[in-house]
Amino acid sequence: MENMGRAFVLKTLLKLTEIRKSFGAVKALKGVSFELRAGEVHALLGENGAGKSTLIKVMTGAHRPDGGIMELGGEEVSGLTPVRAQELGIACIYQQPALFPDLSVMENIGLRLEKVGIFHRVKWAMWRRKAEELLGQIGAEISPEAEVRSLSMPEQQLVEIACALGSGARIVIMDEPTASLTQKEQHLLFQVVRNLRAKGVGVVYISHRLEEIFALADRVTVLRDGESVGTNAVDGLNEAQMIRLMVGRDVETIYPTAEEEPGEVVLEVKNLACAESGLEGMSFQVRAGEVFGLAGLVGAGRTELARVLFGITPADGGSFSLNGKTVEIRSPREAISHGIAYVPEDRRRHGVVLEMAVAENITMASHRRWFKAGILRGGVETEAAQSFVEALGIKLSSPAAPGGSLSGGNQQKVSVARWLATQPKLLILDEPTQGVDVGAKGEIHRLVRELAKEGLAVLMISSDLPEIIGMSDRVGVMREGRLVEIFDNAHAEQVMAAALGSGEVAR
Ligand SMILES: Nc1ncnc2c1ncn2[C@@H]1O[C@H](COP(=O)(O)OP(=O)(O)OP(=O)(O)O)[C@@H](O)[C@H]1O
Ligand SMILES: [Mg+2]
Repeated sequence: MENMGRAFVLKTLLKLTEIRKSFGAVKALKGVSFELRAGEVHALLGENGAGKSTLIKVMTGAHRPDGGIMELGGEEVSGLTPVRAQELGIACIYQQPALFPDLSVMENIGLRLEKVGIFHRVKWAMWRRKAEELLGQIGAEISPEAEVRSLSMPEQQLVEIACALGSGARIVIMDEPTASLTQKEQHLLFQVVRNLRAKGVGVVYISHRLEEIFALADRVTVLRDGESVGTNAVDGLNEAQMIRLMVGRDVETIYPTAEEEPGEVVLEVKNLACAESGLEGMSFQVRAGEVFGLAGLVGAGRTELARVLFGITPADGGSFSLNGKTVEIRSPREAISHGIAYVPEDRRRHGVVLEMAVAENITMASHRRWFKAGILRGGVETEAAQSFVEALGIKLSSPAAPGGSLSGGNQQKVSVARWLATQPKLLILDEPTQGVDVGAKGEIHRLVRELAKEGLAVLMISSDLPEIIGMSDRVGVMREGRLVEIFDNAHAEQVMAAALGSGEVAR
């Protein structure tokens, strides 16, 4: 409601009508219409593979649509290219910003603005002033002189936003921008988005986190299977309605519970330390059939611990035993041979092999299983891949399709499937449901619980507090490279307090 008084609110910036786009036999967009107004945050919501990223790639000129009309400020545009889109004031903030790493922030900003004709000559003082002003406008505490290489991904995103703002972008598009942000960075980004909106910029915002959409968006357009289910004011919807629009049915958001007592200790860690990862004095156990959750703020050392357990950065102190036997794990190969599987967090970089078939991507880590007497049992391998495709609802044209043809969320499911297929004793999951839609999230939860029931020990890292509490039998909380607390029956407030450091008083 707060926006209704603004004069520019009703002005349509961008209008897409009946946009169609196919990739071979896959109809990614089957006639989608979409309208973006000045001064609104318009969320795009939909299951993995629904067509969200494809639609925004049409808006930025990265994909040429097969049909349909695109109008900008009331005028039809055709043959849009990324360069032309930029000139027309359409900016897209990618998760992996395309900045020059060796140049400073102000050089990056200056070059970008120069390219669109704002500056015509190299003027250092002007570049610095402009960079300062733009960074200031979005509230980013980044020095104009800092080398881009030294900035974190989210800081680079902010530099991109500053560039967009400086080049006079009227439309800013963000595709899952918060996937790897800390709480603080997320707050800052939200503030930046609100500032852009207040300036009359139209923001297209894609996220699978419904709470973000409620916090930020004015309207939401829901895509399902390449079609638009409709556009609604966010104010008029609750979470259940939004999910229903997205998946076309009600989704249980109840977490599966453990039915049996956990069994033997599978992993025991005593006084584990790793100087390189900043970990110290970590002691805990994970039993067969148990889901041990690891909570903590981003940067608390959870991913570092996972990497130590998997042998990527081997420990330099303490002891480590699996099924009662002391082991040393100095490499991922050793970890795998001991029955440890690790689904890493940053699946965009460490996950799916884009050129390789989906089926092979799923079975590549479990090749041993598909050999009998030295002969590859191809049929069994394909069947296994197919069963994971079904269990996780991976959306694809064929298991032979390359990994790179899947949508982002479906690629994540493939990387989870790969490690589940190894039938490990200990499964380490780092943010397993990040970027995954609500329906698939429930599937992954059920699968993890089922695996635990079959005797697997699970160590799960998640920044999603309801998820970690709902899924875990016990929750360990990390802070600054240490395990500060282990809860049998965790409550959100306790976990937060321990993660922030206010819980230590009680110990
Ligand atoms: N370059 C491509 N080649 C072949 N198929 C593609 C390509 N890009 C997308 N697709 C297919 O188009 C459909 C829509 O994909 P898109 O990436 O738009 O989904 P999305 O809604 O962004 O999903 P997610 O939430 O998982 O990111 C999917 O079936 C996907 O496999
Ligand atoms: Mg996408």
